[in-house]
Amino acid sequence: MTYEEAKQVLEANGQAHVLQFWDRLDAAGREALLAQIAALDFKAVAELRQILSDSLSGHADEAEKAPMEPAPVTVLEGSERGELAAIGEKELRAGHVGALLVAGGQGSRLGFDGPKGCYPVGPLTDAPLFYFHARKLLALSKTYGAPVPWYIMTSRTNDAATRAFFEENQYFGLDRADVFFFTQGMWPALTTEGKIILDEPGHIFLGPDGHGGMLAALDRSGALEDMQKRGLTTLFYFQVDNPMVDIADPAFIGLHLRTRADVSAKVCAKRDPQEGLGVIVERNGRTEIVEYTEFTDEQKNERLPDGELRYKYGSVAIHVFSVDFLIHETHAGLPVHIAHKKVPYVDADGKTLKPASPNAYKFEKFIFDSLADAKVCSCLAFDRTQEFSPVKNAEGNDSPATCRADLARKWARWLNAVGVAVACDAAGYPSIRIEIDPAFAHDAATLARRLAGQSVDGTADILLKA
Ligand code: UTP
Repeated sequence: MTYEEAKQVLEANGQAHVLQFWDRLDAAGREALLAQIAALDFKAVAELRQILSDSLSGHADEAEKAPMEPAPVTVLEGSERGELAAIGEKELRAGHVGALLVAGGQGSRLGFDGPKGCYPVGPLTDAPLFYFHARKLLALSKTYGAPVPWYIMTSRTNDAATRAFFEENQYFGLDRADVFFFTQGMWPALTTEGKIILDEPGHIFLGPDGHGGMLAALDRSGALEDMQKRGLTTLFYFQVDNPMVDIADPAFIGLHLRTRADVSAKVCAKRDPQEGLGVIVERNGRTEIVEYTEFTDEQKNERLPDGELRYKYGSVAIHVFSVDFLIHETHAGLPVHIAHKKVPYVDADGKTLKPASPNAYKFEKFIFDSLADAKVCSCLAFDRTQEFSPVKNAEGNDSPATCRADLARKWARWLNAVGVAVACDAAGYPSIRIEIDPAFAHDAATLARRLAGQSVDGTADILLKA
């Protein structure tokens, strides 16, 4: 793209200010800015401007929402888990299951310099989040004799670092032919007046377009085509921040298949009524995940006669998608969500400033909005002490400290269950450090088989690796 072409397209779109510091830029800076302008989807930017202006002027299409009910949730009892697991295992053995990880987020709450998947959580080895996911996939492919191809969404900001990390770590033992990276789109942030924001004189501020950007990115990158070529029918979807996730849980896949669901969701009882999980509801005969911010305090605290919360179950973004539904959704178009955020910007002198309060609007699509398009959406309850402890914040709840503690507690439970006596405090936290490679054992039953005939000292640190 030439300067003249850039000027023309920017003027036509009311964004001429993007070139205001052109005279100050050196050749490389000019080239980089032109490349950014050439890559901008001005049709999409015009749509974002319209969405913003409708929202700010109160003209957004806020149709009266139909009343909602808690969605039905399956709680597995007795032999049911085994029966469903058999269905899922058959699908895994046939090589029909893939894994879909969204790892394009900015991880701003954690404040870690690098892709969040590189964050160390292993209590003894500092193994990163990616390690725990990869080693589970390795175990699955060995157990079922078929690969579980892994599709990893990155963003332009962390793509190169993510790929390099996998290279440095030899793909954690996985066959690199079964790992497919694809990159989500980026959107500019806009001012109240709908203007694109420069965060440096020669640079447009861009942010990832949300995990819902995955649908277009799967299509654009050829990932969907790759899934079809490999004969995949079922995709297990998860987020990068939870090392406890039970990837491709056969019972969950079994429920999804038996109910002929388009998409399924794993849900857990909320920690307390105020916990910020999306809530799984039914509205107009469809299942939806409603953000907790849309609930009144009264709704959050509403209880049934037995004392349970009426809206008890929250979604933690663990899903199974049928590949056909994903393909259908790439053409459906998800709604765009607007968030008022602090975005660095340049002042009239070209100096970058960090605002103290929100100054711009960011736009994102959320993958869970696709649930409302599903004819059948099945929900399965899970035990969060076994499967969920995300690294979201630098401190406090859902932080590295709570995640490591939850991993330690879970592994101590497994060890005690298989006869290795590990002393624990009243909260179940072990007196020794433990780390179990998921490729060594992914549950207590596998651990029992792996340790059969061995004696393990439960009074010294325990590191079990495949
Ligand atoms: P979060 O909502 O926790 O966002 O993402 P985040 O970007 O990781 O962290 P904060 O909010 O800035 O602190 C949930 C999952 O969705 C992915 C993340 O990588 C994470 O696995 N995600 C989020 C994307 O892949 N792309 C996005 O644009 C946003």
